[in-house]
Amino acid sequence: MASMNPYRPGAGQTPPYLAGRDNELKEFDKLLDQEIILENLIITGLRGIGKTVLLETLKPRAIIQDWLWTGDEFSQSLGISEDRLSMRILADIAFITSSVQIGERSKLGFGTGDSEKQYLTFDTLKRIYEGTPGLSSDKLKKVLEIIWEIVPHLGKKGIVFAYDEAQTLVDNSKSEQFPLSLLLDVFQSIQRKGIRFMLVLTGLPTLQPNLVATRTYTERMFNVFMLQQLKEDEVRDAIKVPLLNKDGTPKKDMIQFSPNAVDLITKSSGGYPYFIQYICRETYDAFLQKKDNGEELSVPVDSIMQKLDNNFFYGRWAKATDREKELMTVIAKSEQDSVTPSQLFKLTQGDGDIKPFSLAQVGGYLKKLIEEGLIYKDKRGKYSFAVPLFGGYILRGLDRK
Ligand SMILES: Nc1ncnc2c1ncn2[C@@H]1O[C@H](COP(=O)(O)OP(=O)(O)O)[C@@H](O)[C@H]1O
Ligand SMILES: [Mg+2]
Repeated sequence: MASMNPYRPGAGQTPPYLAGRDNELKEFDKLLDQEIILENLIITGLRGIGKTVLLETLKPRAIIQDWLWTGDEFSQSLGISEDRLSMRILADIAFITSSVQIGERSKLGFGTGDSEKQYLTFDTLKRIYEGTPGLSSDKLKKVLEIIWEIVPHLGKKGIVFAYDEAQTLVDNSKSEQFPLSLLLDVFQSIQRKGIRFMLVLTGLPTLQPNLVATRTYTERMFNVFMLQQLKEDEVRDAIKVPLLNKDGTPKKDMIQFSPNAVDLITKSSGGYPYFIQYICRETYDAFLQKKDNGEELSVPVDSIMQKLDNNFFYGRWAKATDREKELMTVIAKSEQDSVTPSQLFKLTQGDGDIKPFSLAQVGGYLKKLIEEGLIYKDKRGKYSFAVPLFGGYILRGLDRK
């Protein structure tokens, strides 16, 4: 009896084998060696490229090297206020500080001076925050400085602050809330004081241009891992290793993929980790159900790709409005990796299938598509799909019409 399907397609799902990424892991270890934090980390790349999974992999590495780890996912953070962001940071960090006794109230210069034992619970942190005069950034700095004082007593080197989906954290001048500036200013300032708190931000490729546009100094403040598709031999490892024992022999109760099947999966995946897991899982299930009559099983590529269209692409496509779809179709038809707004504007004028867009409309829809995580703007101001192979999906849809 063949055993469970080992493959794990799905956001943030730990893969059975993490292929490639050796350089990133080594680079991260170097960042952990910093005595004074001069470099923080950005992990960026398209949807499904493996950012969240890599972030999760860094966590135990940091912990082994005597770092504390705190963090959260910023996916619900569009429009978050400065104080709300601070509270989220404090709530996360309270998980690691709340069991630590920090002595008596009066020593910290707040409270009534009685000698009650004091712990750094969320309530305590919040009280210090609210009791500190000045801007939100002054308040947050003060709390983080107090937390820093206890880190050496815990025998730890520092704290990693890791935030996923950080591209959703943006300043908003309309509501006069600048949470991204707050985060960057606070970390830059405390790092200058020698406090070893390191930022690790993960997100779609919009993230880095966002940061630089918000604070130019972030160009020097971050080391950037721009995650790419896996290389061909890494793809093969991602497919095959889960089916093998440590010594490379086939796992007894697992189905094995033929070299042809591995070739086909490698090619169909385009090297994108999510697609690798997806196609492998579907193939494994398909093979499991076929009766083993000794013949070589073939990968049902067409039906898998059809299913991938329905499950992965369609949901994202369906959420867009008609005009957004039209604009994305124009991008797909251009068959370029990235386009400028003025190129897009021109393309919409000559496209007989749609009502032309004005340049301002192009800009407006691109902005919305970025907020929806479908498009990103790179450093040179050009726009691309944030979902891998999305252009191909859109063109396949045109064929079907
Ligand atoms: N290095 C890798 N090797 C094999 N599979 C991977 C690798 N990185 C990610 N995956 C798989 O790809 C999918 C997407 O990973 P995820 O980290 O959620 O991507 P992202 O956060 O960039 O959208 C998951 O199913 C995960 O198991
Ligand atoms: Mg992710």
